[in-house]
Amino acid sequence: MIPMRKSLLIAEDDENILELLLSAFSQPDLRVHPARSGAEAIALIDQNDIDVVLTDLVMPGGDGIAVLSHAKKTLVHCEVILMTGYGTVENAVQAMKLGAFHYITKPFKVLEVVHLVDRALEMTGVKKENIHLKRQAVGRYRFENIIGISESFREMLSLVSKVAGSDSTILLLGESGTGKELIARAIHYNSSRADRILVPVNCSAIPGELLESELFGHTRGAFTGAHTARTGRFEEAHRGTIFLDEIGEMSPPLQAKILRVLQEQSFTPVGGTKAVDVDVRVIAATNKDLEKEISAGRFRQDLYFRLNVIPIHLPPLRERTEDIPILADHFLGKYPRGDGRRAHGFRPDAMELLERYPWPGNVRELENLVERLVVLSRDGWFERKDLPPAMIPREDRAGGKAAEKLRVGGIDLRKAREDFENGLIREALSLSGGNRNRAAALLGLKRTTLLEMLKRKKLHGP
Ligand SMILES: Nc1ncnc2c1ncn2[C@@H]1O[C@H](COP(=O)(O)OP(=O)(O)OP(=O)(O)O)[C@@H](O)[C@H]1O
Ligand SMILES: [Mg+2]
Repeated sequence: MIPMRKSLLIAEDDENILELLLSAFSQPDLRVHPARSGAEAIALIDQNDIDVVLTDLVMPGGDGIAVLSHAKKTLVHCEVILMTGYGTVENAVQAMKLGAFHYITKPFKVLEVVHLVDRALEMTGVKKENIHLKRQAVGRYRFENIIGISESFREMLSLVSKVAGSDSTILLLGESGTGKELIARAIHYNSSRADRILVPVNCSAIPGELLESELFGHTRGAFTGAHTARTGRFEEAHRGTIFLDEIGEMSPPLQAKILRVLQEQSFTPVGGTKAVDVDVRVIAATNKDLEKEISAGRFRQDLYFRLNVIPIHLPPLRERTEDIPILADHFLGKYPRGDGRRAHGFRPDAMELLERYPWPGNVRELENLVERLVVLSRDGWFERKDLPPAMIPREDRAGGKAAEKLRVGGIDLRKAREDFENGLIREALSLSGGNRNRAAALLGLKRTTLLEMLKRKKLHGP
């Protein structure tokens, strides 16, 4: 942020003291507004962005307390210091209750006031920075910045916007790179907890034996090496949101503890005896098939039921090819060239391959590709030949070989066609991980047709 000139409002009806203060604060980086009454101070607060108010307590036309409460109501980051010649405990207590930064009794040393005002200015700087960062975060995760025009994606997003405002637990399901973290952040920043913290925890990145104390904290001496007590991520997330990423990686005993937080909003730190109450919204994500994990005994069914209240499925990129061009365009804007200009992007024949590629790494893979091509390309245009070999469909490569053979000595067309077909079927089966329904869909065939072909050709999936 560009450092801005700070502004100070001094409200004081005693002309001598006002003069003294005005000269003490005559600094080039500070804009000072003098006011000689409470009413004048209130009007200045309405018209200017004031950082700190230094106000007398007893003045004609509205006292310092009125100035204080008006400033606190009008300007979120503003700090107020009260001065008085009638220092009574009640006044001080009332002022602090209303959110005053400090209270100083006359006669005071000018240096003392200067020091207090400096500290208050520093505090408003921190507050403004926080407000700025929060706005930026909210802006980044606004729904407009989540790109997708395909029906499946728009449907998913409309569900997200419906449930964001509620306090419900959300389960995000999707392959790697489909945008689970992006959606988790969008939910938090569009919820009533937006101005509170979002605590992300990647359950697969933290070794199992440490995860429990990471999540729930531990008491001093809870285990060897626990020299001091430690607050866990759930407690940190109090009144905010916790994002449990890769929850499918969590061990069943820990899953039981998560279940308890969801049911009772309380937990016991490692080594502790007292339960800690928290108010936390849980968003969980996984790229695993949890029902399969349950059958394999790796995931607790009761936790699954508790998490699965609002499941949100993020569709894989290969099932929403319409989104590929606009996502690519979005990333071209995100990764400008060295000279700060935007690259032109993909030539039509390269884009065609993008739309045919199955994207196992989904949007993240597309993002990485664009970022890499921007760096490597000379003229800002990405050609077919610039794409990684894995993106060139095998049939093109095979066809290329057959055509070569044709030139050299001729081919057996029927056999070439058979090979070509078998190659594609094998490819489809491998892309779908052996799932015949999905392979059939990739090939534009009915499942029964594919099964017949497999039998006839004596082909087997991976
Ligand atoms: N619809 C989208 N619009 C814009 N950017 C997107 C979209 N989906 C994903 N991205 C971007 O793609 C990248 C990967 O997304 P994200 O990290 O949210 O995926 P993920 O599902 O959490 O992946 P993983 O399972 O690998 O952790 C991020 O940089 C994200 O900003
Ligand atoms: Mg992720």
